[in-house]
Amino acid sequence: MPGLTIGDTIPNLEVETTHGKMKLHDYIGDSWTILFSHPGDFTPVCTAELGKMAAYAEEFAKRGVKLLGLSCDDIQSHKEWIKDVEAFSCGCKVTFPIIADPNREIIKQLNMVDPDEKDSNGNQLSSRALHIVGPDKKIKLSFLYPACTGRNMDEVLRALESLQKAAKLKIATPANWKPGEPVVISSSVSDEEAKQMLPQGYQTVELPSKEGYMRFTKV
Ligand code: BEZ
Repeated sequence: MPGLTIGDTIPNLEVETTHGKMKLHDYIGDSWTILFSHPGDFTPVCTAELGKMAAYAEEFAKRGVKLLGLSCDDIQSHKEWIKDVEAFSCGCKVTFPIIADPNREIIKQLNMVDPDEKDSNGNQLSSRALHIVGPDKKIKLSFLYPACTGRNMDEVLRALESLQKAAKLKIATPANWKPGEPVVISSSVSDEEAKQMLPQGYQTVELPSKEGYMRFTKV
């Protein structure tokens, strides 16, 4: 993904949203934030995705995460569309703001342009991009999906939990990890440090190399 990427600070853009004008850094404050774009209002995959985001909003809020949507449609369109989203998602309310970007300036600066999708007038559209932004306003993780493929909010939640755990302790989460399962201790942590850091202990998997780097613990 060229342009804005992991480790970069989200630009402090002034944006117009369904909740009024705001500066991105003011909205993020000291929280984790999920900033996600969709190609267009009143389209099937986007309606299903926004509905799922609305349904998961409470789970994200429990983890101290704010949500912020974005597409190139205008505010009036977003407000009308939200009624469809809420009806489709069995009444789950869209409580988070959605940015309007009819001039396509914001999607360019946030690296959310889909190179292949255009509207009926040939204007650019946003991809299904999603940045998980930390309280330091830096991007910790990005997803980039094309218009044909809706995102899986379980995966967004799982990735968020991994990031939040790794931000607290020198650990990482292995392939297919799910919350509650053991995590691995980062290679930069010595065995001595791991013993001090983890009073609950850890298990080292024996491998042919005998390097002892595959250390699992529960956190
Ligand atoms: C959809 O949300 O279904 C969609 C939006 C833009 C292009 C293709 C599909």
